[in-house]
Amino acid sequence: MTGMKAKLSLYLLLGLSLAFVGCKKSTETSGETPTPSATSAGKIKLGFIVKQPEEPWFQLEWKFADAAAKEDGFDLIKIGATDGEKVLAAIDNLAANGAKGFVICTPDTRLGPAIAARAKSHDLKLISVDDRFLGPDGKPIEDVHYLGISARKIGQSVGQALSDEMKKRNWPAAETAACVVTFDELDTAKERTEGAQESLKAAGFAEDKMFKAPQKTSDIPGAFDAVNILLTQHPEVKHWLICGMNDNAVLGGVRAMEGRGFKADDVVGIGINGTDCIVEFEKPSATGFFASVLLSAKQHGFQTSDMLYKWVKDGTEPPLDTRTTGVIINRENFKQVLKEQGVRD
Ligand code: GLA
Repeated sequence: MTGMKAKLSLYLLLGLSLAFVGCKKSTETSGETPTPSATSAGKIKLGFIVKQPEEPWFQLEWKFADAAAKEDGFDLIKIGATDGEKVLAAIDNLAANGAKGFVICTPDTRLGPAIAARAKSHDLKLISVDDRFLGPDGKPIEDVHYLGISARKIGQSVGQALSDEMKKRNWPAAETAACVVTFDELDTAKERTEGAQESLKAAGFAEDKMFKAPQKTSDIPGAFDAVNILLTQHPEVKHWLICGMNDNAVLGGVRAMEGRGFKADDVVGIGINGTDCIVEFEKPSATGFFASVLLSAKQHGFQTSDMLYKWVKDGTEPPLDTRTTGVIINRENFKQVLKEQGVRD
């Protein structure tokens, strides 16, 4: 928490100091008032609000949103907003600074109606990314434009890859279990872990060997704690498969297993995002973090911002629901694939 706060202050400081030298194309703030001097007069201004600015996935979305700003010629105001209060303040600040719209990954999908109402009150166009807004009935709000992953399908590809690797290693079914790190409060997360379990089941994996480890918070410590509890409950398991909503969920699981003496030979963890696990793949020896589904941060960052820009500028309304896919990366192919996808040089 302290680390995150420090990072947020750093963003603010960075935004301010760059605004000072007058050479910055976009602003990053922590939900405080964006500095008008950091944006150039005459250009369309758009916001990009994310729930977890410390997560590499969101930093990459911002990087691609910056690329869209450069290509299209608009000013981008990047804001990290970790709770409802910060989100609403951020929207007010965007409006006060003359922004015409924003892309948002909300810290809580139940804030959807409040966010949509606040955007409307300022006449701001809105696209939600990653985490789809929920209405008061708990169902997705279908008239708010959304771009997100095909969560169930991507989860299914994780389950399939876990099962393939288990077979390759000839792990006996009786000694193997699946650790499913869940975060069911978030629909996209629930669909991913359900998808993984569906594929495992379809491949013949016993349902009573799939154990859920519910995260209290959707970050590495949240997963670490959840998996530690699970490991205490199941000392009989010799080989573990791990899945979760994203790389951090699986990374937390892998770290908890390491703490109990389970190493790469007995753990196969497969994440989702493909962005928060790069450091793991770069380690000289393999860890239990075996692979990840690399999502298209480019579509989530560039395409959403570009769609929003065209909507504001020309009135071209984007599709209401856009879904993206992913590709499996591992220690062998990650460098090549990241290069092909423009994530890395
Ligand atoms: C959620 C997760 C992120 C990432 C995105 C992808 O927001 O928290 O880590 O997986 O979905 O859409």
